[in-house]
Amino acid sequence: MEIVLSGIRSTGKLHLGNYFGALTNFVKLQDMYPCYFFIADYHSLTTHPTPENFEQNVRQVLAEYIACGIDPEKSTLYIQSDVPEVCELYLLLNMNAYVGELERCTSFKEKIRKHPDNINGGLLTYPVLMAADILLHKSTKVPVGKDQEQHLEMARTFAGRFNRMYKCSCFPEPQAFNFGDKLVKIPGLDGSTKMGKSEGSDNALYLHESPEITRKKIMKAVTDSGPIQENQGKPQSVQNLFDIMKVVSKPETLVYFEEEYNKCRIRYGDLKKQLAEDVLIFINPISQRITELLNHKEYLDKMADLGAEKARESARKTIQEVREIIGFRKIQ
Ligand code: TYM
Repeated sequence: MEIVLSGIRSTGKLHLGNYFGALTNFVKLQDMYPCYFFIADYHSLTTHPTPENFEQNVRQVLAEYIACGIDPEKSTLYIQSDVPEVCELYLLLNMNAYVGELERCTSFKEKIRKHPDNINGGLLTYPVLMAADILLHKSTKVPVGKDQEQHLEMARTFAGRFNRMYKCSCFPEPQAFNFGDKLVKIPGLDGSTKMGKSEGSDNALYLHESPEITRKKIMKAVTDSGPIQENQGKPQSVQNLFDIMKVVSKPETLVYFEEEYNKCRIRYGDLKKQLAEDVLIFINPISQRITELLNHKEYLDKMADLGAEKARESARKTIQEVREIIGFRKIQ
C-alpha cells in the first residue's frame, strides 16, 4: 500500500494557494491511503520567528488543517518537532547531500537573493530535512504544489543514493502528486505568478481573514487598461484573476467573463466584485471553523498528541532500520 505524506510550514496563515495546491488533495487522499500530514515547524525556523509567534503559528496551521477537512482520527496529523526522529534522519542524509547540489536548488537561490542578510545552514539543507520528512514514513505519494517539484526530485536523489551506498532498498522513491495531470500553481493578486505567504500581504487571499479585508484586497488587485482587440491574449495580472476565478467560481461565471474579455466589453470592477463574492462564499465556512477550533485549545492539543504518538511509532521503525543498515551499535 502506498503511503501519502505532506507538510505545510507554520510561517503564517494559509492562503488559497495552499488550499488548492495541497490541502484539497490531502482531504481526498485521506479516504484512499494511509496518510501523514504535518506542520513543518522546524522548517519555519529558517526565518527566526519569536517564541510567541512560533507557538501561535503552529496552532493556527493545526486548526486550519482540521477546518479544511483533515480528520485527525483518520489521517496521522502531527507537528514535525513532536517527532524528533526526523532530526536523526536529517543528520544522516546530510552526510550524502553535496553542497554543490544544495546550492543549485532554485528555492535556495531565490531565498538568498531576497534575504542576503540571512543565508543560514538551515536554508541550504532545507531539501534534506524535507527528504527526511518524506523518507521517515517511507512515503511515495507526496501531494504538493508546483513550487515543491524540485524538492521532490532531490528527495528521490537522496533516497536512491542511500540505497546504492548501503546496497539496500530501504527507501522507496517519492513522487510529487496531484489529482489531474499537472501540479497546481495559484497566482498572486499583485500580478506575480505565485500566491505566497512571504510575498506581501496584498498578494495572498488567506483562509482566515475578515471578509472586508478579503474584498478590499481583491478590489485593489492589479489589472490593466483593458483589451483593445477581440480575443487578444491576457496580461499576467488579468490572467491571474481569471485563474483564481477558475478555482472558486462556477464554470458559467468564468465563461461569462471570458466572453466579456474576448469581446472587449469587460469591466474589471465587475469581475473583481464577482470574484470577491465567490471567494467569500468559499472561504467563509472554513474561516468560521478555524475560529471555533482556535477557541478549543484542549481539543487541538489532544489531536496533536494523538498524531505525535502515531507518527513516532512509524518513525522509530524506520530509524531503527536505518541505524542497523549503517552499522550503529544496537541499543539494548
Ligand atoms: P509551504 O508551506 O510553502 O506550502 C504548503 C503547500 O502549499 C503549496 N503551495 C501552493 N500551491 C499552489 N499555488 C501556490 N501559490 C502555492 N503556495 C504554496 C506548496 O506547494 C505546498 O504543497 N517545503 C514545504 C513544506 C514541507 C513538505 C515536506 C512538503 C516540509 N517538508 C515534506 C511535502 C513533503 C513548504 O514550504 O510548503
